[in-house]
Amino acid sequence: MGEMVKRVHAVWFSPTGTTQVTVEAVAKSICKNIGADIVFKSKNFTLAGEREKTFESNENDIVILGVPVYAGRVPNILLKYLNAMNGNGALAVPIVLYGNRNYDDALIELKDIMEDRGFNIIAAGAFIGEHSFSKILAEGRPDGKDIGIVESFGTQISEKIKDDKVDGCIDIKGDKPYRAYYRPRDLEGNFYDFRKIKPKTNENCTDCKICVDICPMGSIDSDDVSKFTGICIKCGACIKKCPVGAKYYDDVNYLKHQHELEDENKNRKEPELFI
Ligand SMILES: Cc1cc2nc3c(=O)[nH]c(=O)nc-3n(C[C@H](O)[C@H](O)[C@H](O)COP(=O)(O)O)c2cc1C
Ligand code: SF4
Ligand code: SF4
Repeated sequence: MGEMVKRVHAVWFSPTGTTQVTVEAVAKSICKNIGADIVFKSKNFTLAGEREKTFESNENDIVILGVPVYAGRVPNILLKYLNAMNGNGALAVPIVLYGNRNYDDALIELKDIMEDRGFNIIAAGAFIGEHSFSKILAEGRPDGKDIGIVESFGTQISEKIKDDKVDGCIDIKGDKPYRAYYRPRDLEGNFYDFRKIKPKTNENCTDCKICVDICPMGSIDSDDVSKFTGICIKCGACIKKCPVGAKYYDDVNYLKHQHELEDENKNRKEPELFI
């Protein structure tokens, strides 16, 4: 079995880059451990246009598929794309990145989707990345320590493939039925509608259009980058990637939630591997 594997695919949705780094590092570690004939491929489905084509693999492939955790679950805007993939018996490793709060049922949900789509799940992992809403919560993660764990995870996966121990069943932490999407509360303690919140643009903006190009929803108006042509999922890409820091939130409930997350999740969480 080991010698039949031809391609390792890193497949990822990653607005602020932490999922990309982690998934590619797992895939590269597998490539290195399995040997010279393996081809590394990276498939980025962050932008809306890249989610129009279906991802297909076959039984000679290893697919490392990663998404960030949104509200304790797989981001719902990705469900259509994920539910159209065809694994065709590929060996596969679901991975989630979360911002040091909790991954709740995101990993088990991703594993279930992939199993349904014909992937053969041989391992899974939950890793920590700097929180999309913050510059200080899980700041700079994945860091050196995380990448060390990522690489040993890749080694363990490779051993499992080489030893042909790929028919087992993987037990993953999470509830079934899945818990509801995690919902923040406003200043009065009531649930509030996070969906309508959008970033603002200040006078530092140089109109470079980077934010237009990187918005995963294609929602920033290129004629006037302070305007929107579609929904905002609060992914953090335009905020963190604007070269002059011109994008910001001023919504009081958003800021309350951000500060609460920062205050309540100071203890460093560590990656969890299922293999
Ligand atoms: C809308 C939204 C909801 C999120 N929900 C959670 C969550 O429930 N738990 C958590 O720990 N992190 C949560 N995060 C943080 C991201 O999962 C985390 O920062 C991840 O590393 C981002 O991945 P990326 O860098 O690939 O975009 C959320 C982020 C966003 C944008
Ligand atoms: S990335 Fe920043 S500077 Fe560039 S257009 Fe967007 S808001 Fe303006
Ligand atoms: S506008 Fe919203 S969805 Fe688009 S990049 Fe900014 S935070 Fe993400």
